[in-house]
Amino acid sequence: MRNVVAGNWKSNKLLHEAREWMAVMEGWLQNNRGVDVMVAMPAPYLAACATDAPLGLHVLAQNVSAESFGAHTGEFTADMLKSSGVSGAIVGHSERRSRFGDSDSVVAAKVDALMAADLTAVFCCGETLQQRESGRAEDIVLKQLQAGILRIPVDQITQIIVAYEPVWAIGTGVTATSDEAQEMHASIRGWLSEAFGAEVAARIPLLYGGSCNPSNASELFAQKDINGGLIGGASLDPKSFQSVIQGHPALNS
Ligand code: 13P
Repeated sequence: MRNVVAGNWKSNKLLHEAREWMAVMEGWLQNNRGVDVMVAMPAPYLAACATDAPLGLHVLAQNVSAESFGAHTGEFTADMLKSSGVSGAIVGHSERRSRFGDSDSVVAAKVDALMAADLTAVFCCGETLQQRESGRAEDIVLKQLQAGILRIPVDQITQIIVAYEPVWAIGTGVTATSDEAQEMHASIRGWLSEAFGAEVAARIPLLYGGSCNPSNASELFAQKDINGGLIGGASLDPKSFQSVIQGHPALNS
């Protein structure tokens, strides 16, 4: 199983701060192996930081165009990311679904663009508080998966990382309990098994995201179907990000 902890800086940091963050991570990464460490940076820094990233740090984008080359002012394509040394992109984050028009079909097209460029897609799914309170959480998440990744050919599906991010836990300081998170991750794993076979499903990293921090990471990462995390606020300070990663049972194993 591939274990992954990924930071998502969202719209934070200036370029010199991104470089300082990488410098703090560099030596630490050399001595802490066993987990794939990724960070999703603001688009303007990608080419420079992917080129200068320390060994063991994969640089991701937070978005990608659904289009390929052409007259699409302001868009950046998966091939552009690849040619800049970027490993992949986050797609379907709830902040983009709710505020920037990333519908299920747009998200699916972005996943396809990443697959075609042979890049990683960190595919986000998650329910709102209202959906959870009305008992529809699992249904919503499985529908997002169905729309986003069901059609991916099985030989490409291991380019997918699934991040379960309950919307009510993002940036709120409220974390899903480890039982709640494990329960949804088990449902996701079950759905992946039916769609792609148990052996393939077991190899797809499932990350938990939503107010994951140094104090709750180890309990979350210890759950059977949680292979790591997608970390927002707690990834901004490299020391706190390191503490989160240190909560992973696979570290140094
Ligand atoms: P927080 O860790 O700040 O809650 O953000 C989670 C997230 O949205 C990661 O993509």
